[in-house]
Amino acid sequence: MHKVTLIPGDGIGPEISAAVQEIFAAAGAPVTWEVHDAGQTGLDRLGDPLPAATLASIAATKVALKGPLTTQVGEGYRSVNVTLRQTFDLYCNLRPVKSLPGVKSRYAGIDLVIFRENTEDLYAGVEHRVGRDAAESIKIITREASLRIAQAAFAYAAKNGRQRVTAVHKANIMKLTDGLFLAGAREVAQQYPGIRYDEVIVDNLCMQLVLRPVAYDILLAPNLYGDIISDLGAGLVGGLGVVPGANIGQGGAIFEAVHGTAPDIAGRNAANPAALIMAAVMLLEYLDEGACAARISAALEMVLAEGRTVTPDLGGTATTTDMTAAIIRKL
Ligand code: NAI
Repeated sequence: MHKVTLIPGDGIGPEISAAVQEIFAAAGAPVTWEVHDAGQTGLDRLGDPLPAATLASIAATKVALKGPLTTQVGEGYRSVNVTLRQTFDLYCNLRPVKSLPGVKSRYAGIDLVIFRENTEDLYAGVEHRVGRDAAESIKIITREASLRIAQAAFAYAAKNGRQRVTAVHKANIMKLTDGLFLAGAREVAQQYPGIRYDEVIVDNLCMQLVLRPVAYDILLAPNLYGDIISDLGAGLVGGLGVVPGANIGQGGAIFEAVHGTAPDIAGRNAANPAALIMAAVMLLEYLDEGACAARISAALEMVLAEGRTVTPDLGGTATTTDMTAAIIRKL
């Protein structure tokens, strides 16, 4: 049995987390949950958006499934998502972008995996004003961080039978910073002679992804480009409701849906649980429970492909609980 921290989160979080718990129970997934609060729920119940007990649980279990958390724009408490990534040094942001049968999108057959460096680049937040009329933001790229994200991408490629890793950059302009990122990728590529390695400039990649997304396999990117192409990727396969993500470090991993708290539909039994279920499937794979992960994934894909018992965002009329029950029947 694996102990896993579950943060149901805010808005639709508790509804879609309950769906995952029911599906795990029905599938006999070898997981016991330690349920803890964070975000607005943490603040309301325990007076803290990131309570000490939640942090202590993740530190002990080293694996968490997290529902979406409310982040206030321009005021209020600091983003809990960012604090968690920094606290546990979750340097690897992994987002699979895959076409799903039955989910509406302009494309078919997409099977991309994006590896985004999660700790530095312009997101280090080192900014300052220069006088009244200018401001600077400092882009930080280190050899160490570039090597470890490249290592994560190539190790994943080798483990999952992937053919190719493409590094994303703008080193024609940012020769030092993006140049260092590429140097790290090239160094790691040499340790994996069986995996094809190439490089693409980020603006060209955006055009190529829109024209022919099936042309890519694994994309390896520094933080800012990775953030942007991750959402571009979600758009290619049908949007927020069907895309999971993982934040992984040496000390642990946190899995989540990519979407937010959907306050407009919270509490109405209308949320699509697919993205959090897919994040939970990634969690099982991370725990080396591949067979159980594959069963849940297949059951979800059958329900999506049939399209009869899906939530309104996917064009159906089912409730969250109906869709969950349909997935459990397929198990
Ligand atoms: P959102 O993703 O919550 O909602 C955007 C639209 O997509 C809404 O119309 C919503 O109803 C719909 N939607 C999202 N997930 C859905 C699902 N599973 N099923 C059906 N419909 C779904 O984005 P928004 O409105 O920008 O953010 C709301 C809150 O969520 C904010 O406080 C934001 O900071 C937070 N947020 C948290 C994230 C996280 O914890 N990882 C990620 C993104 C936003």
